[in-house]
Amino acid sequence: MSHKVSVIFVCLGNICRSPTAHAVFRDLVEKEGLMADILIDSAGTASWHQGKPADRRAIQTAQNRGIDMLDLRSRPVDMGDLITFDYVLAMDYANYDDLRQMALPEHHDKIKLFLDYAEEVSETEVPDPYYGGPQGFDHVFDLVTAASEGLLAEIRERL
Ligand code: 4NP
Repeated sequence: MSHKVSVIFVCLGNICRSPTAHAVFRDLVEKEGLMADILIDSAGTASWHQGKPADRRAIQTAQNRGIDMLDLRSRPVDMGDLITFDYVLAMDYANYDDLRQMALPEHHDKIKLFLDYAEEVSETEVPDPYYGGPQGFDHVFDLVTAASEGLLAEIRERL
């Protein structure tokens, strides 16, 4: 059976934020027993890290919170993703603008800022943690956890 809803998380490198979102959302979906209904993926607007695992700091932060993301590999987002996925979720405004430029106008509506789904979070972007310290990765984890819960609540209404 094919999935009922598909979601792709997109950041710049697909080694820090979007794989964290992918793994956190996947964990939530697994716990709710909805893996057969929801297809989950992630990608980057840049291809610099193609084929590489997530950044070890992102992996460590997730592991500290009981989430495994060792299986994920970076890949660039492509036109096909923008056609096939139901939700294309950008981590920041730069990702959002890049995706909008890449997509056909009829697909613009499914491109959204991921933090639009985070309740009680005033920030609108998941900040890039790549050049900062470990606390940046903790902050990313907290933001994507809040947004994942809001996203799943919305998707549940479509299933
Ligand atoms: P991400 O973080 O977009 O959250 O995966 C980054 C990863 C790598 C680079 C920048 C941001 N980089 O410049 O290589």
